Amino acid sequence: MKITKTVCEFRNLLSNATSPIGLVATMGALHEGHVALLKEARANCGTVVASIFINPTQFNVKNDYLNYPKNLSQDIEIMEDNGVDLIFNPDLEEMYPQSYTTTVNVKDLSSRLEGASRPGHLDSVATIVIKLINICQPDFVYFGQKDIQQLLMIKRMIIDLNIQTRLVSVDTCRDADGLAKSSRNIHLTELQKQSAVGLFSALQVARELRLNGEQSTGQIKAEMKRVLIQHKLNVDYLAICDPESLSEIEYINGPAIALIAAYCGNTRLIDNTLI
Ligand code: PAF
Repeated sequence: MKITKTVCEFRNLLSNATSPIGLVATMGALHEGHVALLKEARANCGTVVASIFINPTQFNVKNDYLNYPKNLSQDIEIMEDNGVDLIFNPDLEEMYPQSYTTTVNVKDLSSRLEGASRPGHLDSVATIVIKLINICQPDFVYFGQKDIQQLLMIKRMIIDLNIQTRLVSVDTCRDADGLAKSSRNIHLTELQKQSAVGLFSALQVARELRLNGEQSTGQIKAEMKRVLIQHKLNVDYLAICDPESLSEIEYINGPAIALIAAYCGNTRLIDNTLI
């Protein structure tokens, strides 16, 4: 396994790589969710590339950026154990030189839900992801379904900009009790982890109601909110949406997705499920 910090060396190292090339983009602090992406890439690609770059522009709150968990040596070890061939770990200046000005905006998809709660966040994600794709030119990119809005936005961007990369979507990885794996879970105390399971419980309730024929999203959301409050979670948003456009639905008569963002103490968690 090789590690490089520069675009130039990265491209050189990839010039004779065995196809297809799979890219897993990360901000480090790897957990089982990332490992699932790496395994999927390793199973299907001749060359597996992973990036580790904590993208400062996608954090709305400076402290969130500063407190983002970092563990480079452990991340490198996990990548090596999971068959990564090449790691791209650029410094800030390599990705955003002084002269940098461009931002990518995927209209609508980047402005609702996460976009409304964290203005500019998804534009910054779209921007760094297209930069990584352009630098690596992978055949496949791998994203997890926990960040479903990010995933759908990147899928849209790939189509709209005629990027020759296929997006592979990988199931959310969960603890035994249902809590979705996230780099931010490291900030949760054992007690808070029990509260945090409330996101999964609320999504389960939404699924059950839907399975039993409930079509009113108002009714479903009221029940979900009750579960979240019971778990002492502070709801940021709670939505039932079209699973492609993420526009909100009032009455369900086809596929739908339930999404939650909630605070557990100071830690903001998100989760979703098709219902
Ligand atoms: O999901 C993440 O970890 C980040 O948003 C990504 C895609 C690596 C871009 O910085």
